Amino acid sequence: MKQGAAELIAGLEAQGLRFTSFERIEDGAYPAADVRWNQSDVAHVESVHGSFETLAPILSDDVAVEVFVLRPFGLRVPLTTAHYVVPGEARVSVTTMGPLALVIEARVEDVSGGTSRARARFAIGAPRCWRWLTPLAAWLVRRNHDRLAVDDEPLKLRRAELRRRGFTFRQDVEGASYAASLQIGRDNVVPPARGDAGDDATSRLGTLDVGESGRREWRLGSDDERGVRAIRDGNTIRGYPRLCLHDGASLDDATVCDGALVCPWHGRRWPALVSLDLAVGETASAEGRAIRLTRAGSTVTVERIGTGS
Ligand code: FES
Ligand SMILES: [Fe+2]
Repeated sequence: MKQGAAELIAGLEAQGLRFTSFERIEDGAYPAADVRWNQSDVAHVESVHGSFETLAPILSDDVAVEVFVLRPFGLRVPLTTAHYVVPGEARVSVTTMGPLALVIEARVEDVSGGTSRARARFAIGAPRCWRWLTPLAAWLVRRNHDRLAVDDEPLKLRRAELRRRGFTFRQDVEGASYAASLQIGRDNVVPPARGDAGDDATSRLGTLDVGESGRREWRLGSDDERGVRAIRDGNTIRGYPRLCLHDGASLDDATVCDGALVCPWHGRRWPALVSLDLAVGETASAEGRAIRLTRAGSTVTVERIGTGS
């Protein structure tokens, strides 16, 4: 049985803890579904927030127990947190550290026109002789919460932007899940049915001038699953996707590591879809992916090959 925040706090008060509470309300230009997705997303914590190390998470769809190592002021502080979903779509987080207990109840609702309002109620408790620690803990919790919110905002805005363009996500049907968030090889992005002739026709995405040596980049086509990010490195031109189909990150600024793009949200690696060695090749096509590079003199044409060709 999962206790709501009020029951949990009452139980701790019965043990002699005294609580200080405060609330944060955030309005966002994204639907509540993407706030819940973000709240359930265990996998983004290290990549997006950076200063945490998460150890040994125990996860189900609606319960997550994690051990973190925080690094405030260069110190290493371990703590255990349990998050769970209670009926009514509230999420409760409980963290204890030494004599302190932190209980957070988070709720989010759609407001209007794709916007949402998230409320988080924080309660910090300590036994009487440790109450002097509470103001410092409250300051750290507020500061941490605000920093995490700033880090997470671009992810939710990006999902909202994709939704405006007709994309949906598997979580819309399946619900947000702590456990599923670790499956970064899953394609959760569902592109819109485009219903245009582009699927059958071969279309030219762009022409690259490869006359000058050195590293260069081009972003071709639309910035979604149909576009290509081309990178010339030495004598090789590689074509990469522009959209991470896991949860929707843009790969336009993703770093390249050992020939693969590394998605900034959860670290999924995207090898090149197609690769052309200018020293030996005239043309290269992506296996199973409809991209073709064709060299003619000092230019390389990048095409999306239609299913009808
Ligand atoms: S969005 Fe999750 S790895 Fe790219
Ligand atoms: Fe986050």
